[in-house]
Amino acid sequence: MTIHKNFEWFKHKTVYQIWPRSFCDSNGDGIGDLQGIISKLPYLEQLGIEVIWLSPVYKSPMDDMGYDIADYFNIDPLFGSNADMDELIIAAKARNISIVMDLVVNHTSDKHPWFIEAKKGRDNPYRDYYIWHDPVNGGAPTTQRSFFLPSAWSFDSTSDQYYYHAFSNRQPDLNWVNPQILEEVCKIMNFWLAKGIAGFRMDVIELIGKIPLESKFTSPRAHELLKLIFKHTLANYEQTISVGETGGATVEDAILYSGNHDELDMVFGFEHMAQDEELGKSKWHLKLLNLPDFKRVFKKWQNGLYQKGWNSLFLGNHDQPRPVSRWGCDGKYRIQSAKMLANTLHFMQGTPYIYQGEEIGMTNYQFGSVDEFRDIEMINFYQEYINDAAWGKDRVMQSINAKGRDNARTPVQWTDGNYAGFSTAKPWIVLNPNYKQINVANDLNNPDSIWYFYQHLIKLRKELAVILHGDFKLLDEDNLHIFAYVRSYQEQQLYVISNFSIQTEYYTLGFKGKRACLLTSNYQRESLPINGVFELQPFETMAFLLD
Ligand code: NOJ
Repeated sequence: MTIHKNFEWFKHKTVYQIWPRSFCDSNGDGIGDLQGIISKLPYLEQLGIEVIWLSPVYKSPMDDMGYDIADYFNIDPLFGSNADMDELIIAAKARNISIVMDLVVNHTSDKHPWFIEAKKGRDNPYRDYYIWHDPVNGGAPTTQRSFFLPSAWSFDSTSDQYYYHAFSNRQPDLNWVNPQILEEVCKIMNFWLAKGIAGFRMDVIELIGKIPLESKFTSPRAHELLKLIFKHTLANYEQTISVGETGGATVEDAILYSGNHDELDMVFGFEHMAQDEELGKSKWHLKLLNLPDFKRVFKKWQNGLYQKGWNSLFLGNHDQPRPVSRWGCDGKYRIQSAKMLANTLHFMQGTPYIYQGEEIGMTNYQFGSVDEFRDIEMINFYQEYINDAAWGKDRVMQSINAKGRDNARTPVQWTDGNYAGFSTAKPWIVLNPNYKQINVANDLNNPDSIWYFYQHLIKLRKELAVILHGDFKLLDEDNLHIFAYVRSYQEQQLYVISNFSIQTEYYTLGFKGKRACLLTSNYQRESLPINGVFELQPFETMAFLLD
């Protein structure tokens, strides 16, 4: 097999995730669209972005906001047309920006023609595209939960069989045991690659190896399938990039996925995201973050993948609450703590992902009632738990406000004008009222803003070899408030020190006789303390080089 792919071309680049529905609306229907994205390409170029990951824009009934696809070859009219997509790919390329599309092929929509056919009966040629099973003891074949519902099986009365869905009942899982699925998926991928996109973010991709009857979400078969997918698609293009969403991956799994250059470039590990939930329970079971645990997860992934695989670095996406509300302070220290979180992450090894609005420190929205929810996961959770004695309304709403996905899905706040400059019409979801203060225009007018801090971080990654290649050493692992680490490469050492607490903290670091160069500071610090004792202000962060 000839591999045309270059495995290094993207490593200094930063990815920006666009969740199109809430990014920018060009046609005044209250929903973001492709022309809206095209209009913001200069903005992204100015930020220094070189890759965009576009959440799904394919035709979809939108039960799960596009993660339920009814036609993989066409753009949903809500977002525009295939011609708009072609235009976006070309316009982005002209600014040295590559487009990565979302590939959602663990499941389709129940409105996909394959499923419509499959449902017609047991003899239908598409029946085997999905996972069917006879009832067991008069009920579902297993007791497995789906991510969105109490059961992963739904009954189909036409054929008296159950079909399997890891997410909602309107997202039936494809049957990856059937080799035709692989063929169909490669066709889809090559269709878009030929149009000039750079690759894919692969939705819940480990699940294609699932064994439903054993209630196993994954198995080594995922690797076999990904090798075949790679060989028939991504391997044949020079500048491709792929990232798999693998919620259950350990470091060892991530090495298998990303280390041999025959499956994926990198995966999203979620271990750090689970540090504020009760062990072994759902994300809704809130737990206070213990900083040493959080740090140890990063240490494990940074060291585990060093020279063996490739990390992805992220603190937010369309499924997660806003990082500044989650781990920082979205009140008095919003600006400082948003910069602190970015600084802590962006000097690690891997590919950083910025989720829309993160670059201006957008915050969670406080949802007052269920009428404001748009997300199927939030709505289902609410309905399932609202009458549960162990929960009750207050606790349910507390979890929703802390973790609900709609927190990340309120419209991007571009200006303090009508509808935050997102649209000329009422947006499809609530706007965060803080857009009057928190908006892109404000940040662009202020050289000390979060936005310029991100711009600086993105630029440094392109310039400093130590960020790309250095090893990683966590310092003072048990410190409850300070996250400090050092990256070393050749003669250079890059230190990052962040105060995760709302109080002044002291931190001592010996660096006698070395030449120091301060790279970043969120408190306009100009030099390092000569005696090595740092007095760190609330949420203070900095990075410096020693050589
Ligand atoms: C992960 C996606 O990020 C999420 O938004 C979606 O609901 C599920 N996969 C199902 O596709």
